Amino acid sequence: MSEKEKVIFSAVQPSGELTLGNYLGAIKNWRNLQDDYRCIFALADLHTITVRQDPKEFNHRILELYALFLACGIDPKKSIFFIQSQVHTHAELGWILQCYTQFGELSRMTQFKDKSKKHADNINAGLFCYPSLMAADILLYSADLVPVGADQKQHLELTRNIADRFNGIYGDTFVVPEPYIAKMGARVMSLQDPSKKMSKSDENANACVRMMDDANVIMKKFKRAVTDSNSEVKFRNEGTGIDNLIGIYSCVTGKTISAIEKEFEGKGYGDFKKAVGEAVVNELIPIQEKFKDYMNNTDYLVQCFKKSREEALKISEKKLSEVKEKIGFVL
Ligand code: TRP
Repeated sequence: MSEKEKVIFSAVQPSGELTLGNYLGAIKNWRNLQDDYRCIFALADLHTITVRQDPKEFNHRILELYALFLACGIDPKKSIFFIQSQVHTHAELGWILQCYTQFGELSRMTQFKDKSKKHADNINAGLFCYPSLMAADILLYSADLVPVGADQKQHLELTRNIADRFNGIYGDTFVVPEPYIAKMGARVMSLQDPSKKMSKSDENANACVRMMDDANVIMKKFKRAVTDSNSEVKFRNEGTGIDNLIGIYSCVTGKTISAIEKEFEGKGYGDFKKAVGEAVVNELIPIQEKFKDYMNNTDYLVQCFKKSREEALKISEKKLSEVKEKIGFVL
């Protein structure tokens, strides 16, 4: 199969504000993948209600996130980009696959263990069964490849097991997906503590650059970013603050590490931090402007997600029927 024919599926939850980490780690890659694969992307809003959401805020956030992804270059003319809850096949196959997922398997999911600690007052069945729904998302579209971060690897592994199990019982039904490891893309760390991932929930506001931060705020955050006790701009691969900044700069500008080291030869950390801040500002400000345009023209947004919804339904209803028939449901 040529790369162009391969299907890539990925989704993100509309669970909070996006950060530079989300952008460089995932969204920017999605944008680039669109030219080389058949891409299907979703906002996984069904997953998000495993944690209680305020209805108004939730509704608004889904729309905003949809607009932001368009602003980042996700193009519904090239790819399918839909809202999960608008495509009924997900909940339906999700239920079916729960019946092919073992209690023991779900109990071993580290994200479930973490989240049930964090939300001890609401350990609901959805939180527990969530990986079966994620498997449904992927398997409905016969995805060959799934770009996932480290935190989702275990869920993808479970998806593969569920697919194998189903295929073993009923014969070839699902494509068993492979993880897609991005060629480029940085794991962006906190600007204040490079041993931690950049996170929107960090108590230290300077640790995290948000997609919607204005230029001054971005510059200030990079100015205050921690570095290390050296002084040369050199990548040491030790997970220091300067390594993190070089990673960010490289990812944003497309420059190689050696080109960056050369560019800043003889210059100090101050100059470098300013350059990183400027590069990030130049990348994010146009996205913010496009985002505002889309939010002022919600007709266009609605048109995009309706079109993608139809496309997603067409593919996934076919797969769901095949599954139901194999199980023995009367169609
Ligand atoms: N569970 C993922 C997350 O929380 C989002 C997600 C839902 C997803 N379905 C998916 C990711 C399918 C990849 C493929 O980040």
